[in-house]
Amino acid sequence: MSTTVVVGTQWGDEGKGKFTDLLARDMDMVVRYQGGHNAGHTLMVDGETFKLQLVPSGVLYPHITPLIGNGVVIDPVVLIEEIDRLSAVGVDCSRLMVSGNAHLIFPYHQALDVVAERHLGFNKLGTTKRGIGPAYADKAARVGLRMQDLLDPKIFRQKLAVVLHDKNPFFAKVYNRLPFDLDALAEQYLDECGPRLSSYIGDTVGLLHDALEQGQHVLFEGAQAMYLDLDHGTYPFVTSSNPVAGGVCVGAGIGPRYIDRVIGVTKAYVSRVGAGPFPSELTDDVGDHLVDVGREYGTNTKRRRRCGWLDIVMLRHAVRVNSLSDMAITKLDVLDNLDPVKVCVAYEVDGQRYQTMPYHQSEIHRAVPIYEDLDGWGCDLSGVSARSELPKQAEEYLCFIEEQVGVPITLVGIGPQRHQYISFSPLS
Ligand code: GDP
Ligand code: IMO
Ligand code: MG
Repeated sequence: MSTTVVVGTQWGDEGKGKFTDLLARDMDMVVRYQGGHNAGHTLMVDGETFKLQLVPSGVLYPHITPLIGNGVVIDPVVLIEEIDRLSAVGVDCSRLMVSGNAHLIFPYHQALDVVAERHLGFNKLGTTKRGIGPAYADKAARVGLRMQDLLDPKIFRQKLAVVLHDKNPFFAKVYNRLPFDLDALAEQYLDECGPRLSSYIGDTVGLLHDALEQGQHVLFEGAQAMYLDLDHGTYPFVTSSNPVAGGVCVGAGIGPRYIDRVIGVTKAYVSRVGAGPFPSELTDDVGDHLVDVGREYGTNTKRRRRCGWLDIVMLRHAVRVNSLSDMAITKLDVLDNLDPVKVCVAYEVDGQRYQTMPYHQSEIHRAVPIYEDLDGWGCDLSGVSARSELPKQAEEYLCFIEEQVGVPITLVGIGPQRHQYISFSPLS
């Protein structure tokens, strides 16, 4: 038995999907533990591209059992579309199991997300407008409906009636919006989604523990990332779940003593989509270069991602909070033609130097990055297949990160395809 967590160390889109898919080769089960269809995980295998939002990235392998844990919020319409889309290209989703305790996203959650952002105006968070925050808010307020309610029409209608009684007047008075209709929602969720999803809904905690007791290897796939974490991220510019490794315990139903390995997936530079502080952000030609070469546009929302140099200050803190055992560096190839390659090693805030993340949020907004310049390698890494083939400067860049962060690098991505990686140690 072994358990591995894949967690993003920056602001998302580090390449978690690619490395989850890669590592899943040697696993038995892949589990999503938080987030929802705000995630967009891209896999490229033999020239084919798969964009996953809810279905775990291990699904491409027939030997994997993919689980969606209780900590995930699910728009059932999107889940059905995703299953259909995958099935249409020959991916077998029949082994997928979804926790009956996972909360449902409704159209009123999405509507709330949209109007809340509009209301915030200039101060908007730049959410994905998928209803994620409002769905988690209802979960915390104990008025959420869950996947298991799709299978129980009486309970479903009772709960939804209570929710709409509360929300509809709010929509009408505050936002001048038409009310949401109980019968129409019940028809869509109970009559259409329920029957389509019933065979997938079950006790994922039980399945997970059965697998562990049988000595199987389980991978937990994080969505979003450390700095989008509700508690540990750059609040309020965060998502509404806990992507950090600790989130696995709650969102999948496993005790901390069972977690063996935590891999921090880290882009060789940094990207962020949506609003919020970003000390090493580049708004110059180099930033544009990273966007162009790295194809930094949202997997689902297509939004242009903000880009900047690698930030070691963020990583040092991510190591602590997630107890990272090792790191996977992705998109090293995107830096191929940059010289020098800069790395942010500290922040300066009001004359004070910080090696680790300032605790006060407004200091992160004012942080001035302190850079070290490293030599670029000026050649194409995309065909490299072993560490020994890396140019000296690329090797030095990776060693510099290891020294500064204090955690070994075990995997390096040098292209988007599944086979474009270098392993610095055995995969499992
Ligand atoms: P995730 O949300 O963390 O799974 O990441 P996304 O899939 O949203 O974004 C990562 C993007 O980078 C995707 O388009 C991947 O195909 C691509 N990608 C992943 N690893 C590499 C890599 O090592 N090199 C390059 N050039 N692209 C990569
Ligand atoms: P993956 O799993 C990058 C960002 C949004 C916004 C903030 C809150 O692909 O790495 P939300 O809709 O969650 O309430 O939006 O979080 N965000 C992501 N950014 N990658 C993601 O997922 C993200 N999921 C949410 O852009 O800033
Ligand atoms: Mg993504």
